[in-house]
Amino acid sequence: MSRPKSLKLSQCAAAIVTGAGSGIGRSFALELARRGGTVLCVDIQQERAAQTAAQVDELGGRGIAYTCDVGDEKQFAKLASKADALLGRATTVVVNNAGVGVGGRIGDVSLEDWRWCLSVNLWGVIHGCHEFAPRFRKLGYGGIINTASAAGFAAAPEMTTYNVTKSAVLSLSETLSAELSGTGVHVSALCPTIVPTNIINESRFPSDRKTFAAKAMEKWAFTNSGEVARQTLDAMDRNQLYVLPQWDGRLMWRAKRALPQLYARALGFSYRLAAD
Ligand SMILES: NC(=O)c1ccc[n+]([C@@H]2O[C@H](COP(=O)([O-])OP(=O)(O)OC[C@H]3O[C@@H](n4cnc5c(N)ncnc54)[C@H](O)[C@@H]3O)[C@@H](O)[C@H]2O)c1
Repeated sequence: MSRPKSLKLSQCAAAIVTGAGSGIGRSFALELARRGGTVLCVDIQQERAAQTAAQVDELGGRGIAYTCDVGDEKQFAKLASKADALLGRATTVVVNNAGVGVGGRIGDVSLEDWRWCLSVNLWGVIHGCHEFAPRFRKLGYGGIINTASAAGFAAAPEMTTYNVTKSAVLSLSETLSAELSGTGVHVSALCPTIVPTNIINESRFPSDRKTFAAKAMEKWAFTNSGEVARQTLDAMDRNQLYVLPQWDGRLMWRAKRALPQLYARALGFSYRLAAD
């Protein structure tokens, strides 16, 4: 199907946003609504998805709430098969955003928590790309945004489980971007540092670490989820792969690329210092 060249992907989109019931996902849904879109607001929590869909309507878009565990292959396949009918036309944008936090040292984090985190943060994104990359390729256009994190390259200690999922999402996005090059399909990987949302409340951290993380979120958040969503949708329109919306993330990204061994030593040193 042809699409006017002047229309950006984020404008008047038929979009799916996962984890749309809160935080960054909700902001993506609302920003797409402001840009005239129809949004399938997907969340594991039905009530939250419905709240976001109602807010999308209030902004002049059209919101449809949909309950799904993105880590469940069958549930995601069902969502993908129904999406076009629910949206009223072919899906044009997918934001694979749902995510959860798990903290703790390797060996201390239970394997059950590893599986939970991988299921949502990684398999949820794999399912989204698996279902929609071929459809968009066939359509000749489309946008895929994968919410990774600065955790995907920063390697912060006691966040291994989360870090592993996010570096995998980054790798998946990089590869997908190369595979879809020249097809009209844009791929962006969002890598924020701290954004104030509900993620800490819902995460599985040792209790002292949860308090620390909650305080860090209060103190060191230099942006908000609305700004992050706006910047990321603009980046998708430009076909920009890496989206680092904050200066601290950009600093870590450059430091690690320029001096990787020094970066690793400094990380270990500061961790030992904090532990003493
Ligand atoms: N907040 C931050 O500081 C930060 C930083 C970097 C990356 N991120 C990433 O941003 C994304 C959004 O997180 P957030 O901070 O907005 O958190 P949030 O907790 O506010 O929102 C996450 C939403 O995902 C939903 N969800 C959880 N498991 C799900 C599942 N299995 N299926 C469908 N929906 C599910 C939750 O119900 C919730 O509504 C995540 O991928 C997170 O890792 C967040």
